[in-house]
Amino acid sequence: MLTEQQIRQALDGRILVITGAGISADSGIPTFRGKEGYWRKLDPMKLATPEAFRANPQLVWEWYLYRRKIVSEARPNAGHEVIATLSHTAREFLLVTQNVDDLHERAGARSNRMVKIHGDLFLNRCFNASCAEEKREIVSEGVLPKCRRCSSLLHPGVVWFGESLDPATIQQVDEFLSNGPCDLVLVIGTTAQFGYIVHWALRAAGHSGTIMEINPDDTGLSSVVHLGIRERASAALPRIFKI
Ligand code: OAD
Repeated sequence: MLTEQQIRQALDGRILVITGAGISADSGIPTFRGKEGYWRKLDPMKLATPEAFRANPQLVWEWYLYRRKIVSEARPNAGHEVIATLSHTAREFLLVTQNVDDLHERAGARSNRMVKIHGDLFLNRCFNASCAEEKREIVSEGVLPKCRRCSSLLHPGVVWFGESLDPATIQQVDEFLSNGPCDLVLVIGTTAQFGYIVHWALRAAGHSGTIMEINPDDTGLSSVVHLGIRERASAALPRIFKI
């Protein structure tokens, strides 16, 4: 466990927080690979790829409207609230979230200290790459939304398998990491399936930083973290940071 002095030092220094679906699990939003996770029952290749969208845009939109509804009805939990507080109180701070829900924002996380690397569930983006118009508009069930500018289909504003991350978001992470090692790297509620998540966590910690993982289960990152807290994020975070 971190001592009070280590926590104070981290707050006076640099903190990187990486979150995944597990932080929102306590708000009732299913994870992907955890128990009851979406990808245990559904095939991501049929719902979350450009090919799936070309083959059946109606089905893909139904799935994203279903997820918009679940997220809209959910509320941020104590874990999101602690991270939001840290985003305001730490001297230098970045939140990198893989989540496309808006619970970090609704908990009050500082927007200029947060990067949503897998996009935003509530955005619509033109599927025509040369247009790429992006808008936050409600999509009604049974209607295939089209771009007002070029009439192509709109794509939910998330990054799918087989698509690249937005270079601007990568740059934001890279700039933060280039400014020096972090005192504390918190990796919360993610199976850390993607190489860039592991790479960013290790790069951020450098030789001197502490990597703390908060997750009820072991992950691919568990063997290299300095502190593994095998607990739910909404219980562990308020206790550790006394917020
Ligand atoms: P996963 O579903 O892969 O992992 C969720 C993790 O959260 C698991 O390791 C669980 O053990 C953990 N977990 C469950 N409940 C928790 C709790 N209450 N507190 C803390 N941890 C908990 O989700 P991600 O790692 O976020 O991408 O998945 C990464 C990406 O894969 C997602 O962004 C999505 C998915 O396919 C795209 O859609 C591109």
